[in-house]
Amino acid sequence: MIREIVQVGDPVLREKCKPVTRFDDELFRLLDDMKDTLKDAEGAGLAAPQVGVPVRAVQVDVEEGFFEFINPVIVSQKGEQSGPEGCLSVRGKAGVVVRPEKVKIVFQDRRGDKYSLVARGFFARAVCHELDHLDGVLYTDKATDVHDVDD
Ligand code: CO
Repeated sequence: MIREIVQVGDPVLREKCKPVTRFDDELFRLLDDMKDTLKDAEGAGLAAPQVGVPVRAVQVDVEEGFFEFINPVIVSQKGEQSGPEGCLSVRGKAGVVVRPEKVKIVFQDRRGDKYSLVARGFFARAVCHELDHLDGVLYTDKATDVHDVDD
């Protein structure tokens, strides 16, 4: 089910999100709805607070595939890249953000199993952008040259 994407100005986007502790039907419903919402919006990623639920769960949809990261943590990072970003919660804007070129994260899947993963390039950028959402950070806090674009 497609949920409404919260827009900048809503305080939920500025919350420090809580860890997911129950890997239950409620989480599955949230994640399934987030996936429907992300696909519908044709975005590269979505974090739970963007649908109004301040818990540590994100999804990333990139060339490498569709990923769900529950309770993700960046454990190492390397290099630097600079590139354009937008956000489904900041409609009609884009800006340039410096991110690590490569990040290693640890996370859980929707059943609570633990994994680690290395992301590079745009994938790493998307991961960093989504993880920032879990700490109430928007890319516009870090971007230079935020400007209007056509959605
Ligand atoms: Co975003």
